[in-house]
Amino acid sequence: MGRIINGKEIATKIRAELADKIKYLIEFGYRAPCLTVIQVGDDPASSTYVRNKKKACEECGIECRDIHLPDTSKEDDLLRTIRYLNIDKEVDGILVQLPLPKHMNERRVLEHIAINKDVDGFAIANAGKLLIGEDCTLPCTPAGVIELLRSTGVNLASKNAVVIGRSNIVGKPMALLLQRENMNVTMLHSKTSQDDMEFYCRHADVVVVATGHENTLTDRHFYGGKNPIIIDVGINRGSDGKLHGDVSEEVKAKYSSYYTPTPGGTGPLTIAMLMKNVFKAYKKDLEA
Ligand code: GUN
Repeated sequence: MGRIINGKEIATKIRAELADKIKYLIEFGYRAPCLTVIQVGDDPASSTYVRNKKKACEECGIECRDIHLPDTSKEDDLLRTIRYLNIDKEVDGILVQLPLPKHMNERRVLEHIAINKDVDGFAIANAGKLLIGEDCTLPCTPAGVIELLRSTGVNLASKNAVVIGRSNIVGKPMALLLQRENMNVTMLHSKTSQDDMEFYCRHADVVVVATGHENTLTDRHFYGGKNPIIIDVGINRGSDGKLHGDVSEEVKAKYSSYYTPTPGGTGPLTIAMLMKNVFKAYKKDLEA
């Protein structure tokens, strides 16, 4: 049976450490860090994420401003809002909650955020720096996965990692971060054959699955394999109304050495890493 990696607990510890540091700085007379979250429209999942981010900010002592624009807003309205925030000296981080309504160009919007306030790490400049190994803002989900892997104490160097999913937000940066840990990284995706998916999963020491589809991996992918660490990034609303990962809890428990549960695995870490990125941006501003 695989052991559960308790993301909730690890994230709570990270938030508490941040809260201590921020409290100390405020006692010394510094302003509080500030994150501004922009949500466009009323996507229920986005509203939940924004609520969770606000709660985490509160816990850390980070001021959280929340700007809610209607679905019918024009892209120019959003860009103007971002420009105001870019020059607001009290705002350390700007986060535009994705997905945006279809009439908006996501890339154009994300590139509008000042690079020093890109706490999601989604700007091309940050992605490029990550690619060539320069200091940069790390995207929150992959950074959180590295924390979860480290928490197991398992030596990662020279082991085999399989990343399933090739999104700009998770899969691609994830592969780069695992490579930084000196892992042998294989990237699989929706066009990978099931035979190859089985082959690579059975040879894996770490599997990070981020497809957004329930039961992406089942018994056949792990049977006779190496009992890898399974990190499940998926959050899917099932037909039962509950949240499910990309792999069932039963399969994860049966075939892994360690695994992240859903919910309570990668989700809390993503938000904790966001808090860290806001604090980093704030500290850079204080030191400037
Ligand atoms: N929507 C789902 N996950 C994320 C995230 O990490 N950042 C932003 N901005 N939007 C998201």
